[in-house]
Amino acid sequence: MTGPLKRLYIKTYGCQMNVYDSERMTDVLTPLGYGVTDSPIGADLVVLNTCHIREKATEKVYSELGLIKEMKQEKALTGQAMTVVVAGCVAQAEGAEIMRRQPAVDLVVGPQAYHQLPELIARTHRSRGERLAADFAADAKFDALSSERHPTGVTAFLTVQEGCDKFCTFCVVPYTRGAEWSRPEDTILAEARSLAEQGVREVTLLGQNVNAYTGGLAKLVRALAKIDGLDRIRYMTSHPKDMDDDLIAAHGEVQELMPYLHLPVQSGSDKILKAMNRAHTADSYLKTLERVRAARPDIALSGDFIVGFPGERESDFQATLDLVQAVGHAAAFSFKYSPRPGTPAAAMPGQVAEAVKDERLARLNALLDDQQKAFNAAQVGKTLPVLFEKPGRHPGQLSGRSPYLQAVHCEGPADLIGQIVPVTITSAAKMSLAGQVISAPAMS
Ligand code: 5AD
Ligand code: SF4
Repeated sequence: MTGPLKRLYIKTYGCQMNVYDSERMTDVLTPLGYGVTDSPIGADLVVLNTCHIREKATEKVYSELGLIKEMKQEKALTGQAMTVVVAGCVAQAEGAEIMRRQPAVDLVVGPQAYHQLPELIARTHRSRGERLAADFAADAKFDALSSERHPTGVTAFLTVQEGCDKFCTFCVVPYTRGAEWSRPEDTILAEARSLAEQGVREVTLLGQNVNAYTGGLAKLVRALAKIDGLDRIRYMTSHPKDMDDDLIAAHGEVQELMPYLHLPVQSGSDKILKAMNRAHTADSYLKTLERVRAARPDIALSGDFIVGFPGERESDFQATLDLVQAVGHAAAFSFKYSPRPGTPAAAMPGQVAEAVKDERLARLNALLDDQQKAFNAAQVGKTLPVLFEKPGRHPGQLSGRSPYLQAVHCEGPADLIGQIVPVTITSAAKMSLAGQVISAPAMS
């Protein structure tokens, strides 16, 4: 790092508590690239940490804000923005009234919300037009992409949504990719039709928060399922908070929607989930899965896990192992927490030693591996529809996928590629299944 990229001016009024709070605010803003400056002139971010204790204190804040407003206007003349935040007890007492009286104020935050400052500031920046710019760019990008697409295989990815508004405290996506944005349904359907005409049988709908798709992901899935030739639909990645009733119902009703759900939980400890700003608990996550399993009992479950998040103790990690036990995964992705500059968790106390992260990751992976092997082994003897995608590693072999996204290897003629064929599973390993084609496929 070559020093702060953005200048932060914090003015502290009143008591020792406010001095302490200003330090905390500086701490949570440092990872976002803000460094303290001693003058509001030219600052990128101005925070007035106010005090309510004496009379006239509020008026003093308004007169200070009058001066800040002029500096903000001056900065705007050079094409640069200044973000003005009112924090502290006046913010608590006056609330939105401050923004009404002084429109130069972008944000009013009470003392309970300081840990959310990075999120609140990012949201403010978005609302100032950066979001629109991003939307236009995304639109143009998709137009260019969809008209040029020439899929090479029988499966394809289809981006339906970008960006994220969830602000998990470990994650850079809300800062780098911007706000949640959904592609219009008609352009998605047009692209899917074109893919199907070119021989694609399976699409995976992509988005950082794909199940937050505007207009409802279930509705989109139902529309896609009607496209001729498109026989399999998958989607990823989803957020537990956005698993709505309609999407869950679709898993029971739409046969083209494959029985596989990647639903990251990150941790099994409610304390850690709260510090991650995940907006769900271990219990609410398990309840969501119960509803999904009620709709589609054979669904394969997958998740993302982070070990060694700041403040994670052995008992928190144990809660993650307990949750993994309770779920039973077909697949999973696990990561050691890595502090990403620009995210709130990077500045949190209680960073976990690398050796502890390594050791926890190994224990978690051992459990997840066992579950994956057990899930695969449970398919032996069953007959599953397999979409053959490509030739296998050896001559005369084919490689495809089961509905549960398992790789399946078989002996078979190359003209089965692109077809969905019943296969009896004869053996299972951690990463794949082997099987035998049991009948000639129906014409397709
Ligand atoms: N450290 C470790 N894992 C992370 N992920 C995202 N950010 C971090 C980070 N800072 C993981 C989460 C997410 C997946 C895509 O990557 O588990 O779901
Ligand atoms: Fe958004 Fe996923 Fe990142 Fe959370 S982890 S902020 S939901 S992209």
